[in-house]
Amino acid sequence: MSAQLKKVLVTGGCGFLGSHVCEFFVKKGIEIVSYDNMTKHELTRTGFAAESARNYNWNYLKGLGINMVKADIKNLEELMEHAHGCDYIIHTAAQPAMTISWEDPLLDITTNIMGTFNVLETARTLKIPVVSCATIHIYGNKINETLREAGKKYSREPDSIDENYPTMGGTLTPLHASKAAGDIYVKVYIDTYKIEAASFRLTGIYGTRQFGGEDHGWVANLSIRSVLDWPITIFGNGKQVRDIIYVTDICDAFDAFYKNRKPGIYNIGGGRDTAISLLECIDILEDINGKRPEVKFAPDRHGDLRYFVCNIDKAKKELGWSPKIMPKDGIRKLVDWIKDNREIFLKEQKKKIKENGEIGEMEKKENIGHR
Ligand SMILES: NC(=O)c1ccc[n+]([C@@H]2O[C@H](COP(=O)([O-])OP(=O)(O)OC[C@H]3O[C@@H](n4cnc5c(N)ncnc54)[C@H](O)[C@@H]3O)[C@@H](O)[C@H]2O)c1
Repeated sequence: MSAQLKKVLVTGGCGFLGSHVCEFFVKKGIEIVSYDNMTKHELTRTGFAAESARNYNWNYLKGLGINMVKADIKNLEELMEHAHGCDYIIHTAAQPAMTISWEDPLLDITTNIMGTFNVLETARTLKIPVVSCATIHIYGNKINETLREAGKKYSREPDSIDENYPTMGGTLTPLHASKAAGDIYVKVYIDTYKIEAASFRLTGIYGTRQFGGEDHGWVANLSIRSVLDWPITIFGNGKQVRDIIYVTDICDAFDAFYKNRKPGIYNIGGGRDTAISLLECIDILEDINGKRPEVKFAPDRHGDLRYFVCNIDKAKKELGWSPKIMPKDGIRKLVDWIKDNREIFLKEQKKKIKENGEIGEMEKKENIGHR
């Protein structure tokens, strides 16, 4: 049985998942260090107000009394210094987008491989249990060759995929390589140094405080655009399927690992109960908003994976964990948060219009949407 948890280091603490991890543990009375370099790589591409979106989670966590550190996981010395005295590391910092990975492979490899290596070295040196975030993308998109196309979604037999399924099949991008390397390194550190570690192969996550754009975080992207009345672009035919998982269910999985300490690789997703397609997500949004979003279709993108549903039996058995939140309930929470926070997405653009006296294409769309 584990000792009582007192202090947690969360890398990527100001990101979507990291900010929820910080909130989850601080609300249990545990001291938190949020360690994040506050990169804007993704946010500047979303069309949202990048500056206010970037600061939102920082300010939110500061308000919860969390110790905020602006620093880079590429800096081993600094990471080690801030991990001293912690009894759990949750590593969520990453370059998480496939598109950015092929545009900037150096950023991708240094963040995801060297960054994860530094986190594992810190855990090994200071003897701290650690969970690192991988992704189901490391199974590769050869899975696309095994699908049937019917109605509004792709399907497959067997419907779910477990941790023994071969990884890296199909057409690969730098993100596949960097995230798979992180996952392999976790196993290497478990096997070689016997550290208490896990790699969570995460499916599509969604929830409040997620500034999802077209590169990463599709449930949030569709939800934000539907609320702001911005048109949605679906890459592919919209029948792509994920067993989406609400973010607090993942926080429960981190908690379960600390309590059970069964090192290894785990699929963490909603399983077959939460499997939905993009088209079904659009239907849910229409139902919640009372209005169908405007949808355009574009060709699917290099490296896209058309179907993934996690077999989560291992996490259920070894960690005693199960997801709880169903898509409709989770998406409603996300939509409510977006409605309450519209100005974070638009603020700067309004300021820019005032300053420049001119309106760009995106801004024109927003103005139309707001009439
Ligand atoms: N969101 C999803 O649907 C999803 C799906 C599968 C896997 N994952 C994985 O979960 C993890 C968290 O994803 P997310 O959606 O919260 O991403 P995110 O982009 O919202 O958060 C990542 C955070 O890491 C920080 N960061 C990036 N580079 C850093 C560096 N060098 N040093 C310190 N901090 C750095 C960023 O500033 C950001 O705040 C990632 O490992 C991602 O690959 C996410």
